[in-house]
Amino acid sequence: MDNAKLILDGKEYELPVFVGSENEVGIDIRKLRDTTGAVTYDPGFANTGSCRSAITYIDGDKGILRYRGYPIEELAGKVRFSAAAYLLIYGRLPTELEFLQWRKQLTLNSFIHASQVNFFDNFSTLSHPMNILGSMVSSMSSFYPGEADDKDLIHHNIQRLIGQVKTIAAFSYRKSVGLPYIYPRTDHSYAANFLRMMFATPAEEYVVPKVMEEALDMLLILHMDHEQNCSTSTVRMVSSTMSNIYASVSAGINALWGRLHGGANEAVLNMLQQIADDDGDYMKYIEMAKRKDDSFKLMGFGHRVYKNFDPRAKILKEAVDKVLTELGIHDPLLDVAKGLEEVALKDEFFVERKLYPNVDFYSGILYRALGIPTEMFTVLFAIGRMPGWIAHFLEMRADPDLRIQRPRQVYIGENLRHYEPEE
Ligand code: SDX
Repeated sequence: MDNAKLILDGKEYELPVFVGSENEVGIDIRKLRDTTGAVTYDPGFANTGSCRSAITYIDGDKGILRYRGYPIEELAGKVRFSAAAYLLIYGRLPTELEFLQWRKQLTLNSFIHASQVNFFDNFSTLSHPMNILGSMVSSMSSFYPGEADDKDLIHHNIQRLIGQVKTIAAFSYRKSVGLPYIYPRTDHSYAANFLRMMFATPAEEYVVPKVMEEALDMLLILHMDHEQNCSTSTVRMVSSTMSNIYASVSAGINALWGRLHGGANEAVLNMLQQIADDDGDYMKYIEMAKRKDDSFKLMGFGHRVYKNFDPRAKILKEAVDKVLTELGIHDPLLDVAKGLEEVALKDEFFVERKLYPNVDFYSGILYRALGIPTEMFTVLFAIGRMPGWIAHFLEMRADPDLRIQRPRQVYIGENLRHYEPEE
């Protein structure tokens, strides 16, 4: 493909162009400022590629999502979460032996450092679980001094992060309800361990219902990665300064917490409950979402990349019906969600702006059916996204184009002026 041409102030410049494996075109502007003196302006980076990546491919117009080339539909509910995590991080699915060894290592490394467990006693009882998660992951590096930055121990740090993120989540829940901590077992899957650590009682054996284990396994895979979303870009930004993996991932956790990003799943449930409490009048909320003067947005709708159905939302919508039926649950909020979706998809405002349900629209209904408290929904998103953050951390550190991330700006402030002290 020929170089791109830029004409600026009457002068013509050539910019190299390259094409990715799915025919996406990248204009290489690394020399733009040096050769033209100009910078690009792209708030929200909607048109800016920050890297070349081989991890996840999304086609927003066609509603395509693939992890390392595999369509999400062929992985979610078909392979185990820990196998999909291995694929994302190491680029291929594990053999049966590798899978068993990997899963055992994830469990053996999922014990929080004994002195760190006491931290749960000192958070305020009002702490949001995402606040606890971000703080605990950030402090992990202080319990493995010298190891967090050791390249030869990166795979051990990876196993600790994937293993302990679910332990931190489960322990913070158990602490919040005054129950003793339950520890993981090597004869349980990742999803089964989490559910057992959340809901078992030490008084008797707890058998994780298969339908719940499989539903959680699928949910975690659906949330595993999504190319350069805000929290993953945050992990890359922090990692580019050579901060260790725990510091980089805890920054991603804090970015995910926002209600426009991972926090949307909790916000969707609260919105559905608010509508249900308002006589189920979802038309009122659709009208509110359309008003310019109203900051209300239909949570769980819209996406920066998907201008078609989010493939994850499609899978979740089918799974919700199946799981709730198998568990014998009728959730009135599901009726509200379906009514809301049906009307919004026909409404000109949403159609014109290509606003469809995203991954967060139905996920909360499923988490609720599994017994997860609403304030923990975004924590579950973080547990699923952990392998994605790690895969991008590793890919960035191996990238020959790696430079510290430091965007430029266009200054629009005061011109030169001098301080004149008062007489
Ligand atoms: C996730 O990036 C990822 O990949 C994220 C994620 C992942 O896996 O990592 O997919 C996970 O974060 C999913 C998104 C969860 N967030 C929500 O559901 C919150 C509600 N959605 C919106 O806030 C919004 O759609 C965003 C944040 C998701 C996308 O924002 P954009 O791309 O900046 O779009 P925009 O705000 O420029 O919207 C374009 C127009 C605007 O109207 P106009 O100014 O053109 O008149 O659409 C409107 C917006 O007001 N709009 C909405 C809307 N989303 C966009 N109007 C009402 N309700 C909404 N939900």
